[in-house]
Amino acid sequence: MKLENNVYKIQDTTVKELAEKFGTPLYVYDAEVIKEHLDRFRQGFNSVDLKVKYACKALTNMSVMKYLLKQGTGLDTVSLSEIQMGLTVGYQPSDIVFTPNCVDFSEIEEAVELGVKINIENLSNLEKFGKKYGGAVPLCIRLNPQIAAQSNTDKVDWWHKQSKFGISLDQIETVKALESKYDMHIDGIHIHSSSVIMSPEIFINGAKAVFDIAMQFEKLDFIDFGGGIKVDVGDGNEVIDVVELGKQLDVEFTAFCEKYGRRLQLWFEPGRFLVGNAGSLITTCVVRKRNGGSEFVGVDSGFNQLIRPMMYGAYHEIVNASNPNGAKEKYTVVGNICEIDNFAVDRMLPETKEGDLIVLKSAGAYGYSMASNYNSRFRPVEVFVVDGQAHLVRKRDNYEDLVRNQILIDV
Ligand code: LLP
Repeated sequence: MKLENNVYKIQDTTVKELAEKFGTPLYVYDAEVIKEHLDRFRQGFNSVDLKVKYACKALTNMSVMKYLLKQGTGLDTVSLSEIQMGLTVGYQPSDIVFTPNCVDFSEIEEAVELGVKINIENLSNLEKFGKKYGGAVPLCIRLNPQIAAQSNTDKVDWWHKQSKFGISLDQIETVKALESKYDMHIDGIHIHSSSVIMSPEIFINGAKAVFDIAMQFEKLDFIDFGGGIKVDVGDGNEVIDVVELGKQLDVEFTAFCEKYGRRLQLWFEPGRFLVGNAGSLITTCVVRKRNGGSEFVGVDSGFNQLIRPMMYGAYHEIVNASNPNGAKEKYTVVGNICEIDNFAVDRMLPETKEGDLIVLKSAGAYGYSMASNYNSRFRPVEVFVVDGQAHLVRKRDNYEDLVRNQILIDV
């Protein structure tokens, strides 16, 4: 979203036009911004065989997934439904990686049937995989190398330090023993880069540790560095310079491949980096009130539609698209859920009145995909702006959607 002559626009369509045409609340995604981020992600890599696998858990709208397919990405999935969506929009099974965690082995069997790349993250499923497929189906293993990371106190960051993810490094001998016992074909190593890494140097140190581990496996075709690359959301916090990271990793990975004796592919699974800043949640201020010392801006949305501020304390920049240049005042922006439901506390915003369009930015990733019908409210519409055209890509829920699976018994 850009501000041009005091008007907020997504490409050539104004926020006001979108709100009038589709109603609020609405999620809008800008294809140009997705493309810009993808290009930037790729920019630093010149020599290596880079494969970007879009982590569609961030935004599972199939039109967006199809757009990314057209831009030449693969897909990172965490459930069979995500795989199905990927296949529906035209991804080849071989371009889809299935990286679930703590799933029943039957899901992995189904994914094998669908022909996608399997990534295994625990010894239990690894053993079952070996027993069932031996060397017939190559697989990737997800490791938890516990590499040093910069610290940050917010919840989104320490989330990654939980230890449930991946196979711990102290179990690597067991992995190797299983590999030879069942004659398995481990062709990939995966580590999730994690959003706590903010400098290329620290990333490269971690990568080198991964290369050392990779040397212990002889049949690799790729190394997958996962996702978690932060994007600048305007909160002043440092983010990694992806172009610089690309340049440095390009050199290091090329050197590693020479040492390994084969040109491997380098995979990444970015979600938020590609779609985070491409999306906004457009809402309307429906109630202005003062309680205690606070001025409240009540909008026609809530944490059922964007949970990140309440769940992680995540920052989303907020603008008043109806009064971009108004004098700044301090507001607490809240939703309509019947419990504490803050989007922002004591935020300086242009003077706001009922009817104003209030936009939450950087809402493309983990916005709609984490939305619910809590309080029996409808999830918003989704609009995708491609080549100057605003397309409706998901309808608003309706009452029938809400009650569809309920069975009203005679009590
Ligand atoms: N690959 C793996 C193995 C992952 O676990 C994730 C995210 C990704 C890729 C994509 O990460 P991204 O590039 O989007 O950061 N709901 C939270 C984020 C959870 C991330 C889960 N895993 C949020 O709203 O910030």
